Amino acid sequence: RAAGDDRPNSEGRDMFDQPTIADFGTAIADSRRITYLAAPIVDGSPVDGAARPVRSPADGRDLIGNCVEATPADCARAMDSAARAFRRWDRTPASTRAAALDRAGRLLQDRMSELVALIVREGGRTQGDAVSEVREAIDFCHYYAKEARARFGAPIELPGPTGERNSLHLHGRGVFVCISPWNFPLAIFVGQIAAALAAGNSVVAKPAEQTPLVGAAAVRLLHEAGIPFDVLHFVPGDGRVGAALVEHRHCAGVAFTGSTEVARIIARTLAGKDGPIVPLIAETGGQNALIADSSALPEQLVRDVVASAFNSAGQRCSALRVLCVQADIADKVIEMLKGAMQELVIGDPADITTDVGPVIDHDARAVLEAHCRKLDGEAREIFRCALPEALAAQGSWFAPAAYEIAGIEVLEREVFGPVLHVVRWPADRLDELCDAIAATGYGLTLGIHSRIDETVAAITERLQVGNTYVNRNMIGAVVGVQPFGGEGLSGTGPKAGGPHYLLRFAAERTISIDT
Ligand code: NAD
Ligand code: ALA
Repeated sequence: RAAGDDRPNSEGRDMFDQPTIADFGTAIADSRRITYLAAPIVDGSPVDGAARPVRSPADGRDLIGNCVEATPADCARAMDSAARAFRRWDRTPASTRAAALDRAGRLLQDRMSELVALIVREGGRTQGDAVSEVREAIDFCHYYAKEARARFGAPIELPGPTGERNSLHLHGRGVFVCISPWNFPLAIFVGQIAAALAAGNSVVAKPAEQTPLVGAAAVRLLHEAGIPFDVLHFVPGDGRVGAALVEHRHCAGVAFTGSTEVARIIARTLAGKDGPIVPLIAETGGQNALIADSSALPEQLVRDVVASAFNSAGQRCSALRVLCVQADIADKVIEMLKGAMQELVIGDPADITTDVGPVIDHDARAVLEAHCRKLDGEAREIFRCALPEALAAQGSWFAPAAYEIAGIEVLEREVFGPVLHVVRWPADRLDELCDAIAATGYGLTLGIHSRIDETVAAITERLQVGNTYVNRNMIGAVVGVQPFGGEGLSGTGPKAGGPHYLLRFAAERTISIDT
């Protein structure tokens, strides 16, 4: 894609097309012959150290590669180098920064098959999910490049009295620390970095500990696209590595996507630091509800519920957690839901026919199992999918489940996996239902299935939610089309893939000159 090419989004792949299926199958087979490595990359050079194995969540016998975790000294070297590089990168014309991101978008497009293979194996994502994820990463690169050209290219001239010139200038803030989750190991990781770089910041990026190999591949690709080695550094490791970066004196901003709990820890650390006040961009979890009234079309509703709750094994921040269905149609919808869940294919994500792959690790599975044990005592099980025996023995598998619960308030926190909760609401209790949803404190995604405009308006006016989807599924926000991000416990409110996102990464300076 050439500079100035304004096509909005990357091209999709037809996952029913035999040559496409064969292409991804070959890429996955080729990937199994490679032993990948994720080591810290500071100033472009990989750092040596003791390596730990990285295995697939689908099958623990699948050794994908190794990860060398960053030490505190690696973190400090990366932060110091990024701080030295910052001014040069900030002074680099926005068009040059954007050109490098456009090149990265093209490289991602060229390497889609190999990246899909790695995401499938390391993240346990289905092939369809992995394709969407690579496309989202491509879109982020091109979209933020376009935004950088449009907003950071020249100062905004402002009015003033005769003899005075006023202008507003956008700059990077300094070293941005980018900390990402495992559930979108490429798209969120690349999206944060691309936004920070587009705005003129240098970056130290930490992937989630579960998915360092995808992160390492992305950073090498960004360097190849022309992002200078000293402007982008890579430090794999667990939360301690993230904490060391946040605490570092050169940290001028944090872009964090992950749980609400960790966002709070980072906010506290930043608040307690001496020196400049450091902004936090936090994109966190949700307790996402879908409200269906009796005007909803049951077939469409159930199709959208199943996609929203069980796609990506429910491991999307946007995923549906609580289906709130009007009592008049509840029995019918629940019956149809059972039927649709029976059809779900749970299996190896490398298999093109799979609908639901594994959960990310044994800890995640244990949390989901504990949650369901608790529900077994206090809720009605609607349906639990069967887990093929051959799978259960290997990897971290958890079969999709649906429970009817008394109300959304019984859920204490986000349940990050394929567990759907169903609540019945009487026709005259819509207000109380909305109050209960609002009382969770989250505000990420909301689904509405209703053919009554007044009902849709009443719900959207009442609930403070970042992304509302009406009469469709509630996942898969598209860059530049559905800017994504939530409020309240769901984050500080930035909209990734939206026209204001880069401003969150920028310092704004006004210059007034008496001519
Ligand atoms: P997590 O909060 O456990 O970890 C996220 C990242 O933070 C990881 O890289 C982790 O190593 C790091 N981290 C952990 N402790 C830290 C500390 N003390 N200081 C600095 N960094 C630290 O989240 P996760 O399990 O990786 O991801 C799942 C969560 O992410 C879910 O809650 C999901 O809803 C949320 N999420 C939100 C969005 C969004 O756009 N709102 C998108 C994807 C995922
Ligand atoms: N942006 C992702 C989605 O909308 C999280 O599903």
